[in-house]
Amino acid sequence: MSPTSPEIKAQVSVSRLRCINCGATADRAEQNFRCPNCGDLFEVFYPGWETSRGLRAAGHDAAALKQIWRERKTSLAPADTSGVWRFRELLPSLAHGHEPITLREGNTPLYDLPRCARAAGMQSLQAKHQGMNPTASFKDTGMTTAASFARQEGFRWVACASTGNTSASMAAYAARGGMRSLVLIPEGKISWGKLSQSLDYGAITCQLRTDFDGCVKVLNELVGRKPIYLLNSVNPYRLEGQKTAAIELLEQLEWQPPDHLVVPGGNLGNSSALGKAFLEMKELGLISRLPKLSVIQAEGANPFYRSIREHGGKKLLPMQAETLATAIRIGNPASWKKALRVIQATEGTVEQVSEVEIALAKAEIGSDGVGCEPASAVTLAGLKKLVKQGYVKSGESVVLILTGHVLKDPEFTLQFHRGDLFTGSAHETAAKTLKPQQRAPLVLDATVDAVIETLERFDSEG
Ligand code: F0G
Repeated sequence: MSPTSPEIKAQVSVSRLRCINCGATADRAEQNFRCPNCGDLFEVFYPGWETSRGLRAAGHDAAALKQIWRERKTSLAPADTSGVWRFRELLPSLAHGHEPITLREGNTPLYDLPRCARAAGMQSLQAKHQGMNPTASFKDTGMTTAASFARQEGFRWVACASTGNTSASMAAYAARGGMRSLVLIPEGKISWGKLSQSLDYGAITCQLRTDFDGCVKVLNELVGRKPIYLLNSVNPYRLEGQKTAAIELLEQLEWQPPDHLVVPGGNLGNSSALGKAFLEMKELGLISRLPKLSVIQAEGANPFYRSIREHGGKKLLPMQAETLATAIRIGNPASWKKALRVIQATEGTVEQVSEVEIALAKAEIGSDGVGCEPASAVTLAGLKKLVKQGYVKSGESVVLILTGHVLKDPEFTLQFHRGDLFTGSAHETAAKTLKPQQRAPLVLDATVDAVIETLERFDSEG
């Protein structure tokens, strides 16, 4: 196909940036990705979608888009085998001659969770497992887009502050794209699995003596002083890529939206991105109604929950965050205003869950043969509460977004099963209820009898 063929042209979605607060527009952002007028965040919008006959992404109607995306599943071209770039009509386009940096991200499974459904009092329950991405978290879907723009703009260095997953993903995509990467993570408060990933992918990894919010502060000053491309989720190109999980989900559901989508909330980029996707899909006629998007936080890292429940979403008071779900140990979430808009537009809600509730939900997701990291398990823990409150009805369709793979944080899992996750903590008494879920490894003599005896003991337990 020649570069000027109509088909290639039709795939281009011209995008611009718009401030979510003052509405100022721009073609490109400063290095801190903040609006120069008011300091708030930018979002990507597509002026070219508006036609006299309504909204059309890259000139296609909804039926044509669905067909193009389905046909690409049989293509072997790198951009088509990516579960992100396959949906490129809804993404900002790279300039002619620039290829995406891709690890074949996206393409993640949608699983039934029958045991979890029973535990939550639901007739059925599904989970989209974003931990099945190349670096084992949902971050890859946004990193492929933003890292590709970093390379297009000629940056040698990219950087992020992270609780571990963004940094693992960024390090991988920077390495694939021939860029250098700088990671700022809180010392001692991220899992070894995530830390080891960024080392292996060759990032310069700095463990700062502070928390995630402190790392963000240092990074923001740093990008003002050095030519470094910022890859935190304030970067709106990340959220555009993360949108595709929602598009892919709807394709998997044959374009029938679920009644509810339940998402963990940390820095609140992911809920913002998924919500943006739903709103755009509705405007483009790809779906006819919106799922209610609800955000779940850990009790010890619940600034968004408190903002909505205590201040009607009018302000967010930063807090000192503390939770064993270290991925969402965030006290001052950058994208809270974007997430608030999504909750309001979809009539979703917020909930908070305790440390013991998170641990139980994680084991239950594991017992369905799926597994996830602790931060992802807040979704099931939160769903149980929403069902009890009557906000979610047992016959409704619900999809949980599982954000990270079970192997991201094996230490948590081992301590849980050994029964010492909460030893010496304020949750020790409440954690006694977890005993039936715990399966500590058994150390036995190396005899068949010892193994058979163990087998029979468990068999008689049912
Ligand atoms: N789940 C996991 C596994 C995460 O790593 C994160 C965020 C979230 C949920 C929350 O998503 O921030 O978009 O609301 N991790 C970031 C990081 C902050 O640095 O890896 P969010």
